[in-house]
Amino acid sequence: MGLSGLLWAMWYILPAYVANGSPVIVGGGRPIDGGRVWHDGRRLFGDGKTWRGFFGGVLFGTLTGVVQYILTPGFYGSLKIAIELAFLLSFGALVGDLVGSFLKRRVNLPRGAPAIGLDQLGFLLSALAFAYPVKALSSGQMLFVLIVTPFIHWGANYFAYRMGWKSVPW
Ligand code: CTP
Ligand code: MG
Repeated sequence: MGLSGLLWAMWYILPAYVANGSPVIVGGGRPIDGGRVWHDGRRLFGDGKTWRGFFGGVLFGTLTGVVQYILTPGFYGSLKIAIELAFLLSFGALVGDLVGSFLKRRVNLPRGAPAIGLDQLGFLLSALAFAYPVKALSSGQMLFVLIVTPFIHWGANYFAYRMGWKSVPW
């Protein structure tokens, strides 16, 4: 595959990272579950999943695709494909993030508690699956992205913690 194949894989996945990270800054306000609880008496998603975070993440992730198209039009072929891909990566990332929080609440983990594996890869697997029909990575590129994402996730969260945007470094 070579170095350029690995770099293109990171370029491809970037909107999912932006979508997953931007709610830390733009999120807040009304939680998506509106405070509702599941049959087990615990919150559906919890206070960490808000409408503003969800739609802000989809918006910034999709806008990332527009900038990427301007910088590397040949990688996408058309603006329409670049926007579709960025939207699906972003929407997929945030749906995966919501499913992750749903599962965390079901096993009684409080909002903000770490769930190793799920926190770093849940959003990514969901983003890859949503985007697959529009433009797919090779299996080698997918493997690479799966391996490096947890490290980038931990690094980004530590940075956000040091910046005072998050109360915990994970
Ligand atoms: N966030 C948001 N809306 C989303 C996702 C995230 O507002 N849909 C914001 C919240 O302020 C959240 C922060 O981004 O606290 C970090 O996101 P994340 O780590 O995914 O949430 P946690 O607070 O850790 O909650 P959970 O335990 O449910 O993962
Ligand atoms: Mg968290």
